[in-house]
Amino acid sequence: MKNILIYIGCCVFLSCSSEKIDENNIYKPFEQPANFKTATYNFGGENIKDEEAVFNLGRALFYEGKLSSDNSISCAECHNQYFAFTHHGHTLSAGVNEALGTRNAQPIQNMAFMDTFTWDGALEQLGRQPMIPITAEVEMNSTFEEVKEKLNKDNKYISLFKKAYHSGKITEATILKALGNFMGMMVSNNSKYDKYIRGEEGGTFTEQEKRGLETFNNKCATCHSGSLFTDESYRNNGLSVNKFIPNEKGRQVISEKDEDFYKFKVPSLRNVERSYPYMHDGRLSSLKKVLDFYDSKVEDTPNLDPLLKNGDRLGIPLTDDEKDDIIAFLKTLTDYEFLNDPRFEAP
Ligand code: HEC
Ligand code: HEC
Repeated sequence: MKNILIYIGCCVFLSCSSEKIDENNIYKPFEQPANFKTATYNFGGENIKDEEAVFNLGRALFYEGKLSSDNSISCAECHNQYFAFTHHGHTLSAGVNEALGTRNAQPIQNMAFMDTFTWDGALEQLGRQPMIPITAEVEMNSTFEEVKEKLNKDNKYISLFKKAYHSGKITEATILKALGNFMGMMVSNNSKYDKYIRGEEGGTFTEQEKRGLETFNNKCATCHSGSLFTDESYRNNGLSVNKFIPNEKGRQVISEKDEDFYKFKVPSLRNVERSYPYMHDGRLSSLKKVLDFYDSKVEDTPNLDPLLKNGDRLGIPLTDDEKDDIIAFLKTLTDYEFLNDPRFEAP
C-alpha cells in the first residue's frame, strides 16, 4: 500500500511537469552498435508521421498509470530504470491491488535485437509484448477499451497521438507501436566491458576482471553467449521446482512438450549487478548466491542441461577465487550511461 501511495504521489507530481516532454530535445535516432547482431525490430511504419514524436509518446505511456485498471501501476512500476528496468525489492512482481504474479520482472534493455520475449518466449514481437501486462490481472488488470477511453479524455494524449501518427488515432496498434519504439531504443552498449572490447578510454580491465572474463568464457559463455550474453535458447539450469508456484512449467507452457518442462530463456547478463534478485522467480538474491548455486546446488532435474552434468558431478566446479573473479567481471557489464540516460527517465 505504501508503494502505491508513493506512486500516486509521483503521478500527481509528474502530470504537473508533463508539458516538458516536447521541450526535452534529447532524442537520438536508433543506431546499430557495431559489436551487436543486427536489430530485428522495425521502428518504421506507414502510419508514422514523426519518429521522435512516437518515441516521446511511448515514453509518456511507459510511465502512465492510466494503462492500469485503477490508474496506479505503470510499466515503470515493475521496470525501474535504476535497476536496469526490473522490479526492485520484488522476487515475483506485484501489480494492481498488490496481486502477485508468478515471475520475476525481466530487465528491459537491448530488446531491439532479441527474437523472443519473456521467460518462456511467449511472444516473438516486441510490438505486441505490452498486451500481456496491460491486460493481465496480476499486472495492470485493464483492457484496451478502458485504456483508449481514458487516453481519449486526456488532452495531453490527444495532442501526442496527433503529432506521432498520420491517423492521429488512439488505437491498440498506435499504443503498442509507441511502447515498442520507446523500448526498442533502450540500448545498453556502453559498459566498461564494451569499452574494453572496442579498445576505448575507460575500458582498461584489472587483472581480476581479465581472469573473470576468461573463466566466464570457459564456464558460462556457451549459454550466456555473444554480445547480448544469451544464446536465446531455453534451458533448465538445475533449479528445483518452486513449490509455491505450482502452475509454472516454463517453456512447456508454450511448446506443450514434456522435454521443455521448467526450461527458461537464458537471460542476458548485461547490468546484472543491478537487476537482482535473480532467476525466473527471483529466488537468488545476490551474484555470490548464483555462483554458489552453479558450483554446488544444481539439482538433477528431469531436463537438466547436459552442460551442467559431468558424470556424477552436477553443476560447474568453481573455486572461491574464480567466483570472485567472475563477479568482478560481471560488474564490468554495468552500463552507467544507460542506467542514467535521461531519454529513458520519466518525462
Ligand atoms: C506488475 C509488474 C509488471 C508490469 C506493470 C509490467 N511488467 Fe513487463 N514484465 C513483468 C514480468 C514479471 C515479466 C516477465 C514475464 C514472463 O516471463 O512471463 C515482464 C516482461 C516484460 C518484457 C519482456 C522482456 C524480455 O527480456 O523478454 C517486456 C518487453 C515488458 N515486460 C514490457 C512491459 C511494458 C511495456 C509494460 C507496460 C505496458 C510492462 N512491461 C508492465 C512485470 C511487469
Ligand atoms: C546450460 C546453460 C547455462 C550455463 C552453462 C550457465 N547459465 Fe546462467 N542461466 C541459464 C538459464 C537457463 C538461466 C535462467 C534460469 C531460470 O531462471 O530458471 C540462467 C540464469 C543466470 C543468472 C540470473 C540472471 C537473471 O537475470 O536472473 C545469472 C547471473 C547467471 N545465469 C550467471 C551464470 C554464470 C556466471 C555462469 C557460469 C558460471 C552461468 N550462468 C552458466 C543458463 C546457463
